[in-house]
Amino acid sequence: MADPASPPLRLGILGSGKGSNCGAIIEAIETGQLNARIACVISDVPDAGILTLAQSHGVPAFHLPPGKFKTKLPPEIEQRLADALLHYGVELVVLAGYMRMVKEPLLQSFPNRIINVHPSLLPQHPGLRAWEQSIRAGDKITGCTVHCVDAGMDTGPILAQQTVPVRPDDTPETLHARIQSAEHALLPMVIGWFAAGGPDAPRH
Ligand code: GAR
Repeated sequence: MADPASPPLRLGILGSGKGSNCGAIIEAIETGQLNARIACVISDVPDAGILTLAQSHGVPAFHLPPGKFKTKLPPEIEQRLADALLHYGVELVVLAGYMRMVKEPLLQSFPNRIINVHPSLLPQHPGLRAWEQSIRAGDKITGCTVHCVDAGMDTGPILAQQTVPVRPDDTPETLHARIQSAEHALLPMVIGWFAAGGPDAPRH
């Protein structure tokens, strides 16, 4: 169980999709497994499920229009994103299905305090739809990774990984669902390490 003696770690969650990882974090908090509080959820997609999910749990959640690029943010918009996270007192930024690369404005505002969940055993299969890459590659084993974010695509120091079997009759959907079940355990576990003061995680 989480240590109730220390104040809950304030999370800022960024996501572009349905938000099942955000849901797993909410459940871990609500069941007392994780000593954290979601300070805000921000999406680059106006109708993303993650926004309605967060709002239904009373979490401030909003769309920040991402500008003209497909896979990154213009620096001035990324600065607005960083300012919003700082405004909500965020201590750890969690990319939970956020489909854009982050660059200097955000990295400088949260040094070593941005983590990402990715649906493969990095450094294998970075980028989009990693589960499909895994099936195409003929992997027998894949998995998921939680890592610190740097300016690269799905690079940055690996914090934890969980293996997942690839079954001969897997479709992309069945494999992604199995990987996501593993993500839903792995991501709250790693956030719990930060909430407990590690790894390399000074509270400020
Ligand atoms: C997750 O499987 C996550 O690993 C993946 O997006 C999905 C989001 O699902 N992220 C990436 O591929 C990042 N490169 P969710 O919206 O249900 O949490």
